[in-house]
Amino acid sequence: MLHPIRKDEQHADNVRQMFNRIAQRYDLMNRLMTAGQDIRWRKAVIRLAQIPTGGKILDIGAGTGDLSREAAHQQPHCLPIAADFTLGMMQVGRKQTPAQITWCAADAAHLPFPESSFDAVVSGFLLRNVSDVQLTLQEQYRVLKQGGRIVCLDTTRPKPTVWSPAVYFHLNTVIPFLGKLITGDKEAYAYLPQSTQHFLFAEQLAEIMRQVNFRNVSFKRYMFGTIAIHWGVK
Ligand SMILES: C[S@@+](CC[C@H](N)C(=O)[O-])C[C@H]1O[C@@H](n2cnc3c(N)ncnc32)[C@H](O)[C@@H]1O
Repeated sequence: MLHPIRKDEQHADNVRQMFNRIAQRYDLMNRLMTAGQDIRWRKAVIRLAQIPTGGKILDIGAGTGDLSREAAHQQPHCLPIAADFTLGMMQVGRKQTPAQITWCAADAAHLPFPESSFDAVVSGFLLRNVSDVQLTLQEQYRVLKQGGRIVCLDTTRPKPTVWSPAVYFHLNTVIPFLGKLITGDKEAYAYLPQSTQHFLFAEQLAEIMRQVNFRNVSFKRYMFGTIAIHWGVK
């Protein structure tokens, strides 16, 4: 007997299909949408991860592997594992990747690693896409070694400021227009602003990280309050 598809499975399937469709142009769109600022944020993520020499780092929701490459660049002796559940994104990423990086198919909700495996776990723009943020963070906590660091880069729900009209114009008009122009997929780049505006506020994500038992949790906002980097320690 066929069992009905659960809501979270359906969501994961939609996310996977969307990233498979835009994989070829994903990196270019990132540079354009953020005016190249994402490169600076990724450098900050890896600095905050404080990877020890020879340390193992998990880049979960790695996509095309930008964070793993930055880790390999900043810490040439580290061992990054770039893990994702969208094959198309990983295929694009693997073409431009040093041998030091290992690629792995994995669902962030059920990581295929034993507990206490990694010195650091990082993610870039993953959490906004998962069905259960708390479960995803619990998995990252489980696979981190004691004293290991988590660093998450994502969009965050913007608070009202004097910049809000310009911010919403960029999110709701400029990004979908650019997305259609560059990737031919207006839907995917309408999803980005929608998921940003329905995602957690930075304070709420920090609170969930504390509930999962991370300590020294902190965050910093970027780009008119639409992006945040959160970090903490197991
Ligand atoms: C917006 S992209 C980010 C890619 C990359 N980390 C970056 O910083 O550019 C989100 C990635 O998360 C992956 N993803 C979403 N949900 C996932 C899940 N449950 N398990 C593993 N990967 C997931 C998608 O396949 C996609 O490649």
